[in-house]
Amino acid sequence: MPARRGSVRGPRADEAGVRGYHGESERVSTLRILVTGGSGFIGRHVVERLRARGDDVSVVDLKPFPDPSVPCVVGDLRNRSIAEEAVTEGLDGVVHLAAITSVLQSVNEPDAVFHTNVVATEYLLEECRQLGVARFVFASTNAVAGDVGRATIDESLSLRPMTPYGATKAAAEMLFSAYASSYGMLTVALRFTNVYGAGMQTKDSVIARLMRAALAGGTIQVYGDGEQLRDYVYVTDAARAIEHGLALEEPDVLTIGAGESVSMNELHRLACEVTGVEIAKEHVPGKPGEMPAVVVDISHARATGWQPEYTVRDGIAATWQDFRSSDG
Ligand SMILES: NC(=O)c1ccc[n+]([C@@H]2O[C@H](COP(=O)([O-])OP(=O)(O)OC[C@H]3O[C@@H](n4cnc5c(N)ncnc54)[C@H](O)[C@@H]3O)[C@@H](O)[C@H]2O)c1
Repeated sequence: MPARRGSVRGPRADEAGVRGYHGESERVSTLRILVTGGSGFIGRHVVERLRARGDDVSVVDLKPFPDPSVPCVVGDLRNRSIAEEAVTEGLDGVVHLAAITSVLQSVNEPDAVFHTNVVATEYLLEECRQLGVARFVFASTNAVAGDVGRATIDESLSLRPMTPYGATKAAAEMLFSAYASSYGMLTVALRFTNVYGAGMQTKDSVIARLMRAALAGGTIQVYGDGEQLRDYVYVTDAARAIEHGLALEEPDVLTIGAGESVSMNELHRLACEVTGVEIAKEHVPGKPGEMPAVVVDISHARATGWQPEYTVRDGIAATWQDFRSSDG
């Protein structure tokens, strides 16, 4: 049954015939995948990975994709016409990464983050529903759970986001739940912890700041006593999780992290050890509302067949190598 733009309801995934994968080892055909936010940090790794296995990959992003051989719609997904241009008939799946990712920006501009992270997501889902695109993998965050103190975060917790960023990711997850139930769409939300690794030079997150300080000098600010715990997942492990999400046979929500949290003090120590640089640090007062710990349980993701390959130490070493090779 050919899907028509403007039909009241798209075909269910089973009617549309979900093709391509029956588990990673039983690849049956090349997939056509759209990566939104494909020009970003995680997106560039995902595009590279999917192309390397032979998929036909296209991108939609505010910024052009660095490799011009990858078809890219350059535009703002808050305009419905951009979603219409990017989601084309015959697509097998969408990997949805485009978002305003700054928590601080989300606090300062909640309306902008809502339109990018929720309204644009709804436009994409609608395009997919109308054209019968069966699979939708989404980058969510462990922050949907909110402040759980030092408790372990898994998929069973209630969603109590504390920032507009977390709220928009939770809202998008609710849309996926509805599109899975109402239209049979195979939606997979991956709740990432802190993603880091090669290609994060323009990022403002802590591992990028440590790498820049090791390269160029400078002092790292550590909030409070530096004993707050965080989970860091290496970017190729995150990209593998997205590839894994495209192969799942049921809608699902997976927590994706290293499964091993380290304190800021420990992260600083590891960065000094790996780089061989004594990176200066100063302790400054903690930020109000900062979570004391992010400790995640990744056993559900493991049970579905994904697991991280990088320890934090190995990941920092790979990131350092990348920073050094791209310096000067
Ligand atoms: N990096 C992390 O630690 C982390 C953790 C949890 C979840 N995530 C999620 O993973 C996804 C990718 O994150 P990233 O670190 O690669 O971020 P990024 O900022 O590097 O990439 C996001 C991309 O989306 C594009 N984009 C933003 N708004 C757009 C719009 N309106 N229309 C079209 N394109 C738009 C940007 O141009 C950018 O290239 C995001 O959804 C983010 O919320 C990231």
